[in-house]
Amino acid sequence: MSVVSKYNLISAVYDLMEAPIEIFLYGKWREEALSSLKGNVLEVGVWTGRNLKYYPEGAQVTGIDISEGMLEKAREKSRGRQNITLLHMDAENMGFPDNTFDYVVTTFVLCSVPEPVKALKEMRRVLKSSGELIAIEHMRSSNNLISIFETLINPIMFSIIGDEVIRDTVGNIRRAGFAIKEEKNLAFKDVFKKIRASHNVFEPE
Ligand SMILES: C[S@@+](CC[C@H](N)C(=O)[O-])C[C@H]1O[C@@H](n2cnc3c(N)ncnc32)[C@H](O)[C@@H]1O
Repeated sequence: MSVVSKYNLISAVYDLMEAPIEIFLYGKWREEALSSLKGNVLEVGVWTGRNLKYYPEGAQVTGIDISEGMLEKAREKSRGRQNITLLHMDAENMGFPDNTFDYVVTTFVLCSVPEPVKALKEMRRVLKSSGELIAIEHMRSSNNLISIFETLINPIMFSIIGDEVIRDTVGNIRRAGFAIKEEKNLAFKDVFKKIRASHNVFEPE
């Protein structure tokens, strides 16, 4: 089953399943990362729209996702918000011109896009040269025990929600031509991280 079919299928129940984690963990990370953004913001993999309430009115937000089921839920949450536009689009092949956005945001997405470096190169292309990538992601830990655990659960996570928990996400961000400006561990040692990155000027476009 493709990632899209999996996400279409689980969109109905996922918000409910993750409500406690959202309250105790993710919510404060989202608020801290997003509540002061301004200008043109692209959110990739907008899912059911969990980040939308954290964007200030001053941010013009475009959210994209490849799953129509998810976008439907996000549209319900953004009703009445003039500064939010939601589009059905593939992160690996976006329909925006180069240098469009001041910020590109991904939260828990680089674990599930089929080709993360390809998607990240697209994010770099549409990000202004003065812009910033903001990512809150989970990834393979540098701790051996945690990494073994992640390797064991990876096939289960992938088969249920199309999620790969052993990706080298910081490495992928660098491989796509970004320079890391901030790398902050958020939880479970270095599994959950906030990353801020900008164009690596030494990388060819
Ligand atoms: C784990 S969910 C994202 C969670 C959400 N951003 C959050 O913060 O809770 C991953 C999302 O990425 C989307 N996605 C996966 N591959 C994609 C692609 N190639 N283009 C656009 N969206 C994609 C999925 O449809 C899904 O909504």
